[in-house]
Amino acid sequence: MIVLGIETSCDETAAAVVSADVAGAGPGSVLGRPRILSNVVLSQLDEHRAFGGVVPEIAARAHVEAIDGIVAEAMAEAGLDFAALDGVAATGGPGLIGGVMVGVMTAKALAYARGLAFIAVNHLEAHALTVRLTGGETPLAFPYLLLLVSGGHCQLLGVEGVGKYRRLGTTIDDALGEAFDKTAKMLGIGYPGGPAVERLAAQGNALRFDMPRPMKGRGGCDFSFSGLKTKVRQTIEALPPGPVTERDAADIAAAFQHAAGDVLVERCANAIEIFAADHGPAPLVVAGGVAANTALRGRLQALADASGIPFAAPPVALCTDNGAMVAWAGLERLALGETDALDFKPRPRWPLDPEAPKAAYAGVKA
Ligand code: KG4
Ligand code: ZN
Repeated sequence: MIVLGIETSCDETAAAVVSADVAGAGPGSVLGRPRILSNVVLSQLDEHRAFGGVVPEIAARAHVEAIDGIVAEAMAEAGLDFAALDGVAATGGPGLIGGVMVGVMTAKALAYARGLAFIAVNHLEAHALTVRLTGGETPLAFPYLLLLVSGGHCQLLGVEGVGKYRRLGTTIDDALGEAFDKTAKMLGIGYPGGPAVERLAAQGNALRFDMPRPMKGRGGCDFSFSGLKTKVRQTIEALPPGPVTERDAADIAAAFQHAAGDVLVERCANAIEIFAADHGPAPLVVAGGVAANTALRGRLQALADASGIPFAAPPVALCTDNGAMVAWAGLERLALGETDALDFKPRPRWPLDPEAPKAAYAGVKA
């Protein structure tokens, strides 16, 4: 089975082709030999840099200009004609709606013109399933515990199957990627913030500045990062007047990243216990843009080792948004016989677990 995937929900215009062997049909089908035949990602960094963050209207227009070329490049790199495809998948949400519409309309048009299946993919599901694409010849078996950490989300989820997610916890305020981006902005080290903070933190002393560990010690699996962000601001304001020196910036970045790591480890430890009570020991998986952070991956790996469970994460390049993860989630759905009609409406909000209760301090991001 071969699927083209399109991702346009934020500031990457991306397309990719993936394939897999499918044994059986419909709900009982089993996947093997996942392959990435092409993966083309065009980042819009230059368009948004001057604004210090993603501007939705600029993003949507840039997707319109780039999408045809990126799809053509993905097909050429895979060495395939559209006739070789079984389906076309696109991120159908959640995300910036203008961008999502560009990807969805492109995929629908291709599917209609070529008589192919169309699959509207939940962007969060794409992150959640990536590890089944990248883990070797046999996709990682369900269930697994997932820490999904991106620019818009910070959640712990039990992944029990394709489309079967149980949310154990979520952030009551900021997503972790957002906290990385805001920290970078306050330190004046640019956009996107995550990789810049990680680079700087590697040269810093994490112990010089004191940072809070929000939610620590309070049972459960919810997160909070706004207090940490505020402390970064206060720490910068308490420095001598003038631009933040390289040394100070590195030490603040290191303290921030270390505190964030402590929070992740503590919340994941709770989740491991809760999840094991239902499923027995299951692997810990981390995915989403922040999972590209080597230091944080190391801390989660250590936690998994100490808990006696396997640890898995997509390769760094497939943690941030890409088309391969969308193509893969589309392929997983198509193999199960699940497709979408051409009147699918893009969804700016699309929770993986609609049944989940609101987080303890409700009302903020889901
Ligand atoms: O998954 P993603 O590409 O887009 C969303 O779905 O949100 O995640 C982007 C987020 C951004 O906030 C970015 O700063 C963060 O992931 N990020 C990182 C790193 N690389 C990207 N955060 C920490 N360390 C990194 N190396
Ligand atoms: Zn993402």
